[in-house]
Amino acid sequence: MNKTISLSLNAVALAVGAVCAAPAALAGEVEVLHWWTSGGEAKAAAALKAQLQAKGHAWKDFAVAGGGGDNAMTVLKSRVVSGNAPAAAQIKGPSLQEWAAEGVLASIDTVAKAEKWDELLPKVVSDVMKHKGSYIAVPVNVHRVNWLWTNPEAFRKAGAKVPTNWDEFFTAAEALKKAGLIPVAHGGQNWQDFTTFESVALGVGGADFYKKALVQLDAATLGGATMTKVLDTFKKVKSYTDKNAPGRDWNLATAMVIKGEAGMQLMGDWAKGEFLAAGKAPGKDFGCAAAPGTAKAFTFNVDSFAMFKLKDAANTKAQQDLAAAVMSPEFQEVFNLNKGSIPVRLNMNLAKFDDCAKLSSNDFVATAKTGSLVPSVAHGMAIASAKAGAMQDVVSQFWNDDKMTTKAAQERLVAASKTK
Ligand code: GAL
Repeated sequence: MNKTISLSLNAVALAVGAVCAAPAALAGEVEVLHWWTSGGEAKAAAALKAQLQAKGHAWKDFAVAGGGGDNAMTVLKSRVVSGNAPAAAQIKGPSLQEWAAEGVLASIDTVAKAEKWDELLPKVVSDVMKHKGSYIAVPVNVHRVNWLWTNPEAFRKAGAKVPTNWDEFFTAAEALKKAGLIPVAHGGQNWQDFTTFESVALGVGGADFYKKALVQLDAATLGGATMTKVLDTFKKVKSYTDKNAPGRDWNLATAMVIKGEAGMQLMGDWAKGEFLAAGKAPGKDFGCAAAPGTAKAFTFNVDSFAMFKLKDAANTKAQQDLAAAVMSPEFQEVFNLNKGSIPVRLNMNLAKFDDCAKLSSNDFVATAKTGSLVPSVAHGMAIASAKAGAMQDVVSQFWNDDKMTTKAAQERLVAASKTK
């Protein structure tokens, strides 16, 4: 990878222009790569833009559509290789270390020390934001991945009850089907398939199994009887999805639940951002419950912005101001109210947050103590990106290919976990 980051002439010209326009402050521009393009996501991104602009800097939007960020990461790689990295990019989990090892990320320790981030963040989060002891990224939120979203009206019609384990899930799915509804709204994309898969793994096998199989990648656990049951259960979910699921975007799947065409969706709480953006109220128009069998566990997904090395002083100042703004209580509140997540900053007042967020917050704290707080593989929190990619491919092939046996899938999963 090209290690020298040169600012484009364009950006320099813009920065100079901004400095002239606002002579009092050192105004710069921050180009921000993200994939927040759906209804709720876009509202949250707008809050970030507003924070930066309030500090007198310019926001250059670099949005690459595609849930889960696969497209965004491909575009980011080519931009960095060509020596034209954005100032900030949504990069998460172990990938932060991969990028930092390339020498392209900037330390934001000055801001982090001044603002006392070590005291404001859970250690499980701050550790991930640091490379060799220095902050190279700022966290935005905590998303919970193991949720089940339901349409109460659809459940009433079907005479079904919200499931708390996988047997109940299939009972509810049958009832919804008999009532003429699509039981499970699903978008057939790798990361969505794996979002479902990891919730099934957590619900069927429990947190210790999840960690052994999907975080430590223990071959005996990945190849064992519990994983066989997980794969069979996962595949059974597919029979309750509709034929248009392949390729569908996650927010369109959420829209099916919003409209009552479908009864449930297994998805992280960015889905709540969609319900809220559509004017729906939690507990009334939609329900949030832990994915079946996972009420005592929490799959976390922390969004964060990595900062790239810049040469221009004004833009570097703008970049640091962005980092400080992201951790401010005001931003943490407004952003997360729109995004569906909870603040990553500790000891925040959650008065304005709904019951789904309060449940998430309580469970985040409780599961951190019991050891059942686990990182999401589907959302790049758990393992190196090459391994995660290979495992996601296997899981999606199994989901899509009705001829692939569970045994074959399991063998391939073990092999994929050894990807270098
Ligand atoms: C996740 C990301 C969330 C949300 C979701 C769908 O990976 O962490 O912020 O955007 O993808 O795009």
